[in-house]
Amino acid sequence: MEKGVFVTGIDTGVGKTIIAGAIAAAVKAHGLDVGVMKPVATGAKEIDGKLVSEDVVYLKKIIDSTDDDDLVNPIRLEPALAPTMAASKSGVTIDMEKVWETYRELTDKHGFVVVEGIGGLMVPIDDNTLVADMALKMDLAIVIVSKHYLGAINHTLLTLEYARSRNLRIKGIIFNMLNNGEDFVGEIGRLSSTPVLGTIPFNEHVCVEKCLYGDIVEYFRKEINMSKIMRKET
Ligand SMILES: Nc1ncnc2c1ncn2[C@@H]1O[C@H](COP(=O)(O)OP(=O)(O)O)[C@@H](O)[C@H]1O
Ligand SMILES: [Mg+2]
Repeated sequence: MEKGVFVTGIDTGVGKTIIAGAIAAAVKAHGLDVGVMKPVATGAKEIDGKLVSEDVVYLKKIIDSTDDDDLVNPIRLEPALAPTMAASKSGVTIDMEKVWETYRELTDKHGFVVVEGIGGLMVPIDDNTLVADMALKMDLAIVIVSKHYLGAINHTLLTLEYARSRNLRIKGIIFNMLNNGEDFVGEIGRLSSTPVLGTIPFNEHVCVEKCLYGDIVEYFRKEINMSKIMRKET
């Protein structure tokens, strides 16, 4: 059994939060005590004098998490920029030790932790840490979220190539917001040998910003290979 999974994507805005939330809820429905983590969030909004990330609100709500925001999301920054640039603009240094400590605390507390990265694998967190390094340090396998748009073949293949070059364990790809995208999935399959964990269609009842889940969890449990995500392969 894995201790968690790291959800990354081929780009920003491809559905990492939707997929991470659905994985967490599916693991919970399986009977496990699950935690969620968004180690670093940018574009956080000030609410009642506190910075809050929409992703964190969504991820916590879908599993009814009572964990403190500081545990789920140790680093949150207001500028909607890559972390290094958001930190520099805010005049702060990102404390990676805090990220690792928080992650240890969460994995001690929960049977399974779903971590949402930020942007894609080569997004810089600080001068020594890319998102890929975060997944490696956490010793988690990755799920890659892909979406069908012009340029997505390049982004998907680059992500796979880089993940392999860093020896990341790849659980597989989830194609999100896929409507009539069979050719795209076929093309990725033809050009790479990565398992497809499943596809999720565009669903108008699903929305991170409005905290709407629709039937994503039921759909996910039926369509996505959850056992591959949860089981540790030797
Ligand atoms: N399957 C889906 N159906 C409808 N809207 C979706 C779906 N997946 C994601 N979205 C929407 O697309 C946007 C980006 O998704 P999000 O999960 O926030 O991406 P990321 O975390 O990769 O930035 C959000 O507005 C979200 O509500
Ligand atoms: Mg997100």
